[in-house]
Amino acid sequence: MTYYEDFSPGSNRLPPRSWVRSSAPVLSLNGDWKFKLWPHADAPLEDPAEWDTLPVPSHWVLHGDGRYGRPIYTNIKYPFPVDPPYVPDENPTGDHFRTFTLPDWGIDRFVLRFDGVESTFKVWVNGTEVGVGKGSRLATEFDVTDLLAPGENTLLVRVHQWSAATYLEDQDQWWLPGIFRDVTLLGRPSKRIDDVWLQASFTDGHGVVTPEVSGSFPITLSVPELDVSVTWQSPSEVAPLEVGSVEPWSAESPRLYDCSVASAGESVHLRLGFRTVRIDGDQFLVNERKVMFYGVNRHETHPVLGRVFDLDHARRDLLLMKQHNINAIRTSHYPPDPRVLELCDELGLWVMLECDLETHGFEFDPSITDNPSEDVRWREQFLDRMERTVERDKNHPSIVIWSLGNECATGRNMAAMAQWTHERDPGRPVHFERDHASAYTDMHSRMYATLSELAVIATTGNASEGNLRPEEAVRQRNRPFVHCEYGHAMGNGPGSLADYQAVYEQYPRLHGGFIWEWRDHGILTKTADGTPFYAYGGDFGEVVHDGNFVMDGMVLPDGTPSPGLAEYAAVIAPIVFGDEPGTLRSRYHSIDTAAVQFTWRREDDGVEVGRGELEVFPVPAGESGRFELPPEALDVAASGETWLTLEAVSGHVVGSRQYQLSSRPSVSLVRAKGLGGAVFDPRTGSLLRIGNVEITGPRLELYRAPTDNDIRAGGWMWHERGLDRLEHRVRDILIGDDSITVSMRVAAATAARCVEVTYHWFGVEDGVALRVDAVPSQGWDCTWPRLGVRFELPSVEEASWFGTGPLESYSDSSTAAQVGRFTSSVDDLNVVYSKPQETGHRPQLRSLELDGRLRIDTVPDRTGHRPGFSLSRHTPQQIAAAAHPYELPSSDRVYLFVDNAQHGLGSAACGPDVLPQHANWPAAHTFTLLFRA
Ligand code: GAL
Repeated sequence: MTYYEDFSPGSNRLPPRSWVRSSAPVLSLNGDWKFKLWPHADAPLEDPAEWDTLPVPSHWVLHGDGRYGRPIYTNIKYPFPVDPPYVPDENPTGDHFRTFTLPDWGIDRFVLRFDGVESTFKVWVNGTEVGVGKGSRLATEFDVTDLLAPGENTLLVRVHQWSAATYLEDQDQWWLPGIFRDVTLLGRPSKRIDDVWLQASFTDGHGVVTPEVSGSFPITLSVPELDVSVTWQSPSEVAPLEVGSVEPWSAESPRLYDCSVASAGESVHLRLGFRTVRIDGDQFLVNERKVMFYGVNRHETHPVLGRVFDLDHARRDLLLMKQHNINAIRTSHYPPDPRVLELCDELGLWVMLECDLETHGFEFDPSITDNPSEDVRWREQFLDRMERTVERDKNHPSIVIWSLGNECATGRNMAAMAQWTHERDPGRPVHFERDHASAYTDMHSRMYATLSELAVIATTGNASEGNLRPEEAVRQRNRPFVHCEYGHAMGNGPGSLADYQAVYEQYPRLHGGFIWEWRDHGILTKTADGTPFYAYGGDFGEVVHDGNFVMDGMVLPDGTPSPGLAEYAAVIAPIVFGDEPGTLRSRYHSIDTAAVQFTWRREDDGVEVGRGELEVFPVPAGESGRFELPPEALDVAASGETWLTLEAVSGHVVGSRQYQLSSRPSVSLVRAKGLGGAVFDPRTGSLLRIGNVEITGPRLELYRAPTDNDIRAGGWMWHERGLDRLEHRVRDILIGDDSITVSMRVAAATAARCVEVTYHWFGVEDGVALRVDAVPSQGWDCTWPRLGVRFELPSVEEASWFGTGPLESYSDSSTAAQVGRFTSSVDDLNVVYSKPQETGHRPQLRSLELDGRLRIDTVPDRTGHRPGFSLSRHTPQQIAAAAHPYELPSSDRVYLFVDNAQHGLGSAACGPDVLPQHANWPAAHTFTLLFRA
């Protein structure tokens, strides 16, 4: 068996240890290396003089313009035949070569460290084989002391894209081979610190440091801020240390204490965060308080670099999370670059740290039976991965849960990993979603459970997992529940985040969850004619791929936060203003509201008429409070709508709510002579212009360009029923002096089911009004994506409106939307999803102005409901036909959609469909608009 097809975890490696900041000398071996790509694994060792140049760290498929192959995207399936542990003979193999001058460190040991190489690699120093490394997102160290010589040394690293290890790395992401994390030569002093682990716990205001140190004694631990300095002469003296009164670490208050651990030859710097993690029954507690996870799944992904780490990029992303009230990360589905954990410690994020392990592709084809989780031949490699995961990152206070991996079958190898972890680190619970019976892990976990399943999980136990023996069900029921993935953020969506949050808060056993996922994985590339775009599966000519399923983040590939992220921020905001103005509830885990500034703002018809600060007595973590509103905050205007907005800010918005104090619609339709300057085509009854503003329509529209969620839900029915190709037949036109009434029948080819529509135009004071009556025939059996009318204008650049905004919103994703006055360019109204789809709907429109030339008001119905609007340079049919934004035809038109109803979003791309209360089923609709040019 070849080394890249055997079951071993590697060879000749040093035992895993903590990633720390050390005073010992280091030489970065990052930079330009010589590179040669072979089409197969068993290539000769060549003279590198003629090779190309490739930067390290990198993925070779993201360099060389296709000369070194291209990225491949698959979700569950392996991109080659499932034949473990064998891989195809066509196995791209990259030889990486460089020289370096051995520094004169006066040191006796040298360690060569690789922080991440995908997937299996072999190393030679000065022509002598060093060892083999596996575990792409785990660190590997080799002792190379005896192979180095003074002066120039050579280093050759042969990296195989496919290996037996690939079977354990089937995460849903791009396949990106290469030396993609740092390569370093470490000088190891003779009097060194071999490894250190400082567990800093917190009880009743006091800190205890439990040290585990190996190396050359005496060793001194100091925490200057706590006046702690203790020297141990020998390992037997190392013992837990009470450090007196400390401030605890939490995601909200990430208090860190600088600390050093020093031997005669090396000093290691750590930052202590005092916190105690504990499970009590079905409660997950940190510092004795329940933690609710407002989390996201975070992959390592960068549009240009792939999984190569970029500190600024990572920091910006984590700050963006914090600014959106996110408090937790699951490192899906492998340990990130070690610096990510330093950032989490410092910025404050609860972390579920996951091992680099997924074998999902074994589930893809039912004929595959030899799942690695149960197969003892893989046991050593499973355990090795978990040990390296825990050992590397064990010092970080932000890590509060270890996760064994993702989407492997349950089995004895998983159980062995859990057992090892429990023994090694009793201070953190172990998670693995597929341990449905809670046989060896500490939390019950699911992905994409529906709301009703959650209610069952939270009460009688999880029936849907089936086949659980009664005692297993009991065990599972007595574990804290965490939703390790939910809210699939693919394209426009997800819907129902507020519904999920309500359920999490209803049942004590539930601990929130982690949105799938933080960021789209689009790779910045170019079309043949040089147009840049973000690529997804299939864009690199892959034989098998999973299309745009890799574009499912709350942040677009270019870093733009999506409306879904704004929605999440609003849903999970730490300050929740109560139904009654002057009340609030805190969702904070451990801080009070002392640092929060509270303000009020009052608007009459969207125009600010007052604002001020509010005095709110600090509300303790997790509690409720009351505060006074000044009388002028609650004044009501004589006409129009009055809104009170309360806002809580602590660096960013941490809570906001609007209260409608009065609603006296100001639109009243007083009939008048003429048609307000509107001109119609006498043959079709269609509007041609109003005054000198060219505008044609209306045209009934039932179709929207399916969102990614629509496509995987009832969206195919919309095409089946022809909603995208409706035909419009004029049945009757009635032209009067001050009105025109057009009756139409709208239906699709082959179908008898139809919608009868009447457009009734009539003159009103300073304008023309349109009443739309739409009545469906019998026989409709699918939802309607929208019920609205479309107008066409030659061009519009800017829209100002009084309604909901600033971003798009839909009935099941409307927590972030506020009522107010907004202005935007037409292009900025819409989100550039990497796969074009429905975007830009803003419900409850009061009034819209286009380029200051045309004004359209809506009239509320008896329930106060009003239509919403969107503006687009393309029709839904054009948008649906485009796979990428660059495929949209150029356009000199603008389409205005006024929708009386839109279907919700749901998250059926992976999870539940639109809830019944947000679904748009065929029904009769009437709505009235007022046009003024
Ligand atoms: C889950 C999986 C994730 C991702 C997601 C769908 O099953 O754990 O890695 O594939 O579905 O996008």
